[in-house]
Amino acid sequence: MQHDDQATTQTPVSGQQLMLGIDLGTSRTAIMSSRGTKETVRSVVGYPKDLIGIKLLGAPMIVGDAAYEKRAFLDLRYPLEDGVLREYGQRDIEVARDLMGYVIGRATPKPDDTICAVIGVPARASKANKTSLLRMAQEVVDMALVVSEPFMVAYGQNKLLNSLVIDIGAGTVDICGLKGTMPGPEDQVTLTKAGNFIDERLQAAILERYPHVQMNLNVACAIKEEHAFVGHSPGPINVSLRSGGKPVICDVSEPIKAACEAMLPEIIENMKVLVEAFPPEDQSTVLRNIILAGGGSQIRGLAEVIAANFNDYGDVHVTRVSDPTYDGCSGALKLAQELPPKYWGQLGDMIGF
Ligand SMILES: Nc1ncnc2c1ncn2[C@@H]1O[C@H](COP(=O)(O)OP(=O)(O)OP(=O)(O)O)[C@@H](O)[C@H]1O
Ligand SMILES: [Mg+2]
Repeated sequence: MQHDDQATTQTPVSGQQLMLGIDLGTSRTAIMSSRGTKETVRSVVGYPKDLIGIKLLGAPMIVGDAAYEKRAFLDLRYPLEDGVLREYGQRDIEVARDLMGYVIGRATPKPDDTICAVIGVPARASKANKTSLLRMAQEVVDMALVVSEPFMVAYGQNKLLNSLVIDIGAGTVDICGLKGTMPGPEDQVTLTKAGNFIDERLQAAILERYPHVQMNLNVACAIKEEHAFVGHSPGPINVSLRSGGKPVICDVSEPIKAACEAMLPEIIENMKVLVEAFPPEDQSTVLRNIILAGGGSQIRGLAEVIAANFNDYGDVHVTRVSDPTYDGCSGALKLAQELPPKYWGQLGDMIGF
């Protein structure tokens, strides 16, 4: 990677271009490269709490699942909150840069590579937040373009015209209407009742029903990832929890349904607004092209329940992407490879060239 002025001038760059697609998520960051890298990293950085920690770790910091596993002697920092960079201070930017530097390192760039990255951000990330992300990215890549997460999904699926993408992540649900152009602010919404919100709701709902069990967000999240559903109940969902240190079997079917369905009204309401914003002659096509993406798209029954909420809209098709972990990221890489970086400035906020 080059740290000279080349990236900020019109001068053609020498060496090879390494193209990257990066889906910078609240819970996980996915990276794919033009040379075949395909990895996810938990979006967390750990720093030793004290000198003993430094000795135990043998390094000033550690990123990803390994940091989470060693959390007993580390200060864990999550650089993203509700899908966007935490920006309370310089320290937050440094944490984000440590994560980004690590993620890009996974793509093993060569010293003279020109690194060009397309980075997904929530649909309605503020201008200021995109600018700080790009400023931070500038330290680790030569060129970077930020695009909205649902747009990346649509690009990857070849659904850039007359479709609606709903990306259900940990921090945000991003909904975007695709009209064959770069989506503008009026085409997209970001909602903050997403996966983390379901975890909180589920924890509360289980405690309400079984006040004596021990619950935390990790346990709630694990139950959700295994059993999440909306709509028709599949029957009792018995899980083993702990009460007074002993295992107890609890039916969590109702709490799961309530927690998962709690995010639906806002999603449906905003989908309706975005559908109506298409020209009337295109709306029936849009309704047949509704795509669910992100980790939350795996909630059972979601496509059916969403479609049922549009039962007076005519023919409605809701589908899920096949690989919620990588579909956004692979769309970003596809964009990076198909559109020459010199045109990226026409697509959105970028640094380089
Ligand atoms: N099978 C599942 N059912 C329901 N939810 C799931 C399932 N698997 C993962 N999730 C949830 O999906 C969320 C993670 O999705 P994803 O990786 O798309 O988010 P992210 O990109 O990190 O977040 P964001 O886009 O908000 O920044 C988490 O809340 C996770 O618990
Ligand atoms: Mg995401």
